[in-house]
Amino acid sequence: MSVILITGASSGIGAALARHYAGSDTTLVLQGRDALRLDAVAEACRARGARVETARLDVRDRAAVATWLKTLDSAHPLDLVIVNAAINGGDPGGDVETEAMAFETVEVNLVGALNVALPCVTLMRARGQGQIALVSSLAAFAPLPDAPAYSGTKAALLAHGLALREKLKPHGVRINVVTPGYVKTAMGGEYQGWRPMEISAEDAAVRIARGLARDQDIVAFPWIMAAAARGAALLPESLRRLGMSGFKFKIRVGR
Ligand SMILES: NC(=O)c1ccc[n+]([C@@H]2O[C@H](COP(=O)([O-])OP(=O)(O)OC[C@H]3O[C@@H](n4cnc5c(N)ncnc54)[C@H](OP(=O)(O)O)[C@@H]3O)[C@@H](O)[C@H]2O)c1
Repeated sequence: MSVILITGASSGIGAALARHYAGSDTTLVLQGRDALRLDAVAEACRARGARVETARLDVRDRAAVATWLKTLDSAHPLDLVIVNAAINGGDPGGDVETEAMAFETVEVNLVGALNVALPCVTLMRARGQGQIALVSSLAAFAPLPDAPAYSGTKAALLAHGLALREKLKPHGVRINVVTPGYVKTAMGGEYQGWRPMEISAEDAAVRIARGLARDQDIVAFPWIMAAAARGAALLPESLRRLGMSGFKFKIRVGR
């Protein structure tokens, strides 16, 4: 029986991952804040035979998250933790995002992700096994001018994850960084702009699960977008900026 924890499982990619992994040989621990959506995902996973626990928690609440993870892990040691919860940030009018929005994005996407990942590192390291996937974005390689804080948090997760991966390998803990391109979800729908090669959340879940099963250091897709984003980082900044000019967008607020 494998035990898989997914944060941000009430929607989008997290919900699709939960349904993907759901089966009679799996215990799923699903975190989110919206009770109705979280319960609906949990029911769908139970219908596929999985044992499911849910937790309504804000990932920004470090103390509550740490206590929750300790209790969880002592009841059933976590095999795989997918650190997925995040928000978009940005500005609805296409202006520079407000300080408040930028700090909220950092709190959720970076500090919130580490609030989950780092206690799991400690717990997994102590028993010499486990896998943690940090869900970043192709924006980590190719920062989006309309979402500076989002891009910054995703780049920080990429760097932190890859560095940790090296340190933790000898201790039996695998770290992977997931960098998706555009995915059709509530978050994806908030981007009012060009979203080339957008894929479904189900497709994203299959690609992520395959990459994690292979223990890929970076699970990046679709590969053409990933190659372009990674390659763009090598260009002179003036050329890279020109290439990014097609990726302007505004954030639509509300679901
Ligand atoms: N969609 C894309 O195009 C795309 C592209 C690249 C990377 N990604 C990354 O993929 C991941 C999933 O995105 P998605 O598109 O599936 O987004 P989504 O549908 O908006 O889902 C986001 C999830 O995060 C949870 N969440 C947000 N703030 C939270 C908080 N403070 N505490 C706890 N949970 C919180 C939400 O829970 P509640 O709604 O219950 O609060 C929801 O379950 C994110 O890390 C995102 O950056 C997405």
